[in-house]
This record gives sequence, C-alpha cells and structure tokens, in this order.
Amino acid sequence: MARAKAVVIMAAGKGTRMKSSVTKVLHPVAGRPMIHYPVRSALDLGAEKVVVVLGHQSDAVEAYLGQAFPGAPITGALQTEQLGTAHAVLCAREALDGFSGDIFILSGDVPTLPTNVIRRLDEDAGDAVVAVLGMRLEEPAAYGRLVRDSRGSLGAIVEAADCSKDQLSIDEVNAGVYRVDSEHLFSTLDTLSTENAQGEYYLTDIVASAAQSNLPVSVTLLEGDEAPLAGGVNDRIDLAAAERRQQKALRDGLMRGGVTLNDPESLFLHDGVIVGQDTVIEQGVALLGETQIGDGCYVEQGTRILDSRIGQGTRIKAASHLESANVGDRCQVGPFARLREGTVLDEDVKVGNFVETKKAHLEPGAKASHLSYIGDARVGAAANIGAGTITCNYDGYRKFKTDIGAGAFIGSD
Ligand code: UD1
Ligand code: CA
Repeated sequence: MARAKAVVIMAAGKGTRMKSSVTKVLHPVAGRPMIHYPVRSALDLGAEKVVVVLGHQSDAVEAYLGQAFPGAPITGALQTEQLGTAHAVLCAREALDGFSGDIFILSGDVPTLPTNVIRRLDEDAGDAVVAVLGMRLEEPAAYGRLVRDSRGSLGAIVEAADCSKDQLSIDEVNAGVYRVDSEHLFSTLDTLSTENAQGEYYLTDIVASAAQSNLPVSVTLLEGDEAPLAGGVNDRIDLAAAERRQQKALRDGLMRGGVTLNDPESLFLHDGVIVGQDTVIEQGVALLGETQIGDGCYVEQGTRILDSRIGQGTRIKAASHLESANVGDRCQVGPFARLREGTVLDEDVKVGNFVETKKAHLEPGAKASHLSYIGDARVGAAANIGAGTITCNYDGYRKFKTDIGAGAFIGSD
C-alpha cells in the first residue's frame, strides 16, 4: 500500500533580495502568485495535508490561498521569526500532529517545478529516509552543494557560505525539494544547531545526520535542459528567468494541443488560459486571466484578451482589447476594437474598427462596423449600427439601457 503523503511548503521568508514591499511568494509568475504552484503540486500529489509555513505578510498569503483553493486541505503554520529552513519545518509540526508517512518539503520560491519531477523523486527514493532533489548547473551560484562520499552516496549538503574552495566547485546543487520520513524528520530537526556561517537552523543538515547514522539517502538529479526547472527565485533576475521558463512551458503546452503560434516567443500567457485546436495566434498577443478561446479562431497581432470567452471560428483582428467579454462563434472583431466588461456577442456578429462596447449584447448577425460606442444596450439580431453611433446611457444622474430591435438600421452619425 502507498504510504500516506503530507506536504510542507516553506514560505515565511520576506525575500529581502527582491527589494519589494510585497512578500516574495506573492510575486506573480504567469499571472499567479509564485506560492500557487507548489501548493497545486502538493494537491496533485494527493497529499492528505498541506501545511504552508507563513511569516511575512501571512494574512495576505493565507487570504490568497483561501480564495485560490477553496475547500482544499491546506493549513497555515506561523513562523514569527525566520530562524532558518529547519526552524520553518519545525513550525509545521503541530499541524502534522498524528501524521505518519512521507513528508514532502517544497519551497515557496521554486515556482516552475513540474509535479512529475516530484513524483520521480518519490519513485527514485524507494525506502530512503531522506530524498533530495538536485540539479547539475554550470553556474552553481549560491545554491547548497551536494557533497558525496567516496562511494558516491550523498553525505551532506553544504551551503555556499559554508563551503571550502573545493566544495564550491561542485556542480551538483540542492533544489530545496525533499521527501523525508515523518518520524525521522521531527526527531532529527530537534537536534540541529545554528553553528554555521549564517547562524540559521539549516534543513539541509538532516542529510548529514541521516548519512552519519547509515540511514539510506537518495538523490534525484536534474540535468541538461531539465536542471533549470527547479531554479529558485531570490531576486528579480531569477523572477524574470522563472517567468521565461513558465511561458515556454505554457506555449509548448498550447502547441502540443494543436494551436499554431506564428512567433511563439512573443506571446504572453497566463497560467490557466485555454486555446482550442487549429486556432492561430500571431505575434505580440497577450492572453490573460481566465481566457478561453475555442477551435479554429484567428487572433491577429497586438491583441490583448483578459478574462474573456471566445467561441469557434472567430477572428479577432489586430490591436483589439477584450476584457470580461463573451464572444460567440464566427464573429469578427477589430482591428482596434475595445470590448469591455459585460459585452456579449452572439454568433456571426461583426464589431469593426474603433468601436467600444460595454455591457452590450449584440444578437446574432448584428453589425457595428465603424467608430461607435455601444454601452448598456441590446442590439437585436441582424441590426446594423452605422458609423459614428453613440448610445447615451447617462444623463448625469441616472443610467439607462438602450434597446435596439432586430433588423433595425441605424444611419451614420
Ligand atoms: C535553500 C537551501 C539551499 C538550496 C536552495 C534552493 C537551506 C539552508 N538552504 O537556500 O541548499 O540550494 O534553498 O532554492 O535550506 N524560509 C522560511 N523560513 C525561514 C527561512 C526560509 O519559510 O526561516 C523559506 C523561504 O521563504 C523560501 C525557502 O524557505 O521560500 C528557502 O529559503 P531561502 O532563504 O530562499 O533559502 P536559500 O538561501 O535559497
Ligand atoms: Ca531561495
């Protein structure tokens, strides 16, 4: 029988090197706060409990998690003083009282790690008491080094600040992701000291403790193109690198699903955007929020679409802006159209250049081809709105709704 799983996510640090008034794990990657990703992985792993260790701006982080994962088995554990990663995990002990099995420890500042890699760590680990995810990097930078003994087993993780010159040249580093047997974890954490360069309780010291007691320790090493996936975010340069990795993963996902991207690297995506098969997306497009685009659509260059739904076979021409709009099948929008919140276009609707809509419902086949403002209005089926038409809805005191019937013909100006 599979062992029970719990996950601890360390997210209490302020992230001083971000130089920000916002705590590190709330900085977005592909439109979601960084903390979203390890929490989602934890739930995907089937963890029966997810404990998020909180400190800086704990209220804001907790509020986000409550809203993003309603009803999920997530508990916040407060670490009021950040005394190090081992101390962070100790703060989760109470929330895990009575749990026995495997505890996965993830870092809140490692946002681009695919859940599959954590599954691989789990499989590789067998019955090791401590399993460590490592990466081989050409520039091992400030990561903790994986120090192996003469037989090649992992003997210790040494933080860069504590490394000898020889150790600094080791290119296998610690990704900050672990699987540890619950009994072993808490009994060892109690014994750690702060005798190191940073005067902190290092979680990484559990490796040397296990190795010294001849308990099995395993390493899963990410190499080549895979290695950067486990990269941590400590400053804005790391943040930009994580964003680039996540964008690539999302783009590749779309292309594998049958979407054509004319210039993949110029597309900006938010995590969660859905695009249907045989849709073509030109250069410089941004697809944001909860946007969903159907099959066989065409999105021209420079368009921005936020929180909108688009049906099938619709063309969005260049430089259009859509926000909280619902666009039906076979519509034509733009170029230079602005569909604002509450816009509903039924099928076969045409909204042309320099047309702005807000809380407007255009029924099947309706057309507003040029230079108009249509707000708080219904436009009936097949009605035609001439150039320069404005629906005035506000007299300075009250708002009114404009109702234009099916088949109506509104002349220009
Ligand atoms: C840590 C590892 C290092 C590894 C790297 C991978 C230790 C001692 N070092 O270093 O070996 O290569 O991650 O990214 O573990 N945190 C708390 N409470 C604390 C301290 C940290 O919650 O008291 C959280 C931070 O918010 C962060 C995570 O733990 O999300 C990692 O802490 P950070 O200070 O960034 O550790 P690194 O120096 O990156
Ligand atoms: Ca870090």
